[in-house]
Amino acid sequence: MTGDTSKKNDRPGWYADGIGHVWLPYAQMKTALPPLPVVGTHGTRIHLADGRELVDGMASWWTACHGYNHPYIRQAVERQLATMPHVMFGGLAHEQPLRLAGRLVALLPGDLGRVFFSDSGSVAVEVALKMAVQYWLNRGVTGRSQFIAFKGGYHGDTTGAMAVSDSDDGMHALFAGLLPAHHLADLPDSDESVAALDALLASRADSIAGIIVEPLVQGAGGMKFHDTAVLQRLRLLADKYDTLLIFDEIFTGFGRTGAMFAAGTAGVTPDIVTLSKALTGGTLGLAATVATRTVFDAFWSDDPKKALMHGPSYMANALACAAANASLDLFARDPRLQQVAGIAQRLEQGLSPCRDLQGVKDVRIKGAIGVVEMERIADLNALRARFVAAGVFIRPFENVIYLTPAFTIDPADLDTLTRAIVTVVRTL
Ligand SMILES: Cc1ncc(COP(=O)(O)O)c(C=O)c1O
Repeated sequence: MTGDTSKKNDRPGWYADGIGHVWLPYAQMKTALPPLPVVGTHGTRIHLADGRELVDGMASWWTACHGYNHPYIRQAVERQLATMPHVMFGGLAHEQPLRLAGRLVALLPGDLGRVFFSDSGSVAVEVALKMAVQYWLNRGVTGRSQFIAFKGGYHGDTTGAMAVSDSDDGMHALFAGLLPAHHLADLPDSDESVAALDALLASRADSIAGIIVEPLVQGAGGMKFHDTAVLQRLRLLADKYDTLLIFDEIFTGFGRTGAMFAAGTAGVTPDIVTLSKALTGGTLGLAATVATRTVFDAFWSDDPKKALMHGPSYMANALACAAANASLDLFARDPRLQQVAGIAQRLEQGLSPCRDLQGVKDVRIKGAIGVVEMERIADLNALRARFVAAGVFIRPFENVIYLTPAFTIDPADLDTLTRAIVTVVRTL
């Protein structure tokens, strides 16, 4: 790996010993920038081994919505650690996941009332797909094993999740031979695309188990936004052709777009929703797939074959559920959604100078998401290194520079992030 941005003699021994043995995410190992050695995090700051401190614009892949090391979450996890870090969920039940399930269904719209816990977003999507396919089988309807997914969509890196992600120009195209074929449609955001989706459903409804969408924001596929009318149309079409609607709120859930859930903003209740990322406030891996009563009822039977056959070893992990309960306490106690509204305003002010800069295709803000879409980014590594040199952690991908800060970010830190983007983009 070349292009190091940290001072070599400030690398701790553990870094030198271990770095040759790890395989990094989404990285060409030969040419990727070496990851920065981190020795601590606090609030919206990342402390590097060489003594530098970076202002964080990513919230660790959109998870750390209350900032890092929030004492309230830490204490809840410590208490749980002393009592019971983990116990299997098969045949045993315990307090934290049961409390959490009740709280999640109270926050979600409509009759989304049954929570299946798992350990990562991709697995929550796998569970949602299995639920949808088996829902039809359990009702005696055969042949419905395909999904309609959307161009620009991303639902994870496991096989089933990849298959409903945009594999035409997404990162999963290589695996086309491994993946089952589903239908990749345009989001219904124009008369033509609504008509095309209607026609697809009219001709194929008998083979469609469900429609899966990231509501309001397609994240990893390019930080693209759509409006609530798209989701309302999807609900109408799913009802018209009697198929299931799945909202993947793994990115959008827990305040990121300005409301607790995008489903609530749209006034739409999906049949199944997936949650993860900010669920634990960015502390521990946890995910949930939540189904409506109608979906759950299709599994309620004297027939063991109608059970949902899934059960990750670490499902409903007590530490992770304690963290999630503490995170929900913070949402209830602190003005998080107001903070998101404040961030949206400040992102608008801070990033708007980019609109006049050369090479900028679009600047858009939704909730605590600020996006500067470039015509192209010639050298992502160089750009990432420039942000680090400017004292910020911002990780652009493809042609997108974006911010998804913690909701607790200090206005001065947010300005540091937006100023760094304006300065760097100006000199690209
Ligand atoms: C919308 C969406 N779904 C699913 C996933 C996969 O989640 P995980 O990385 O926890 O497997 C992601 C991750 O970025 C995501 O943004």
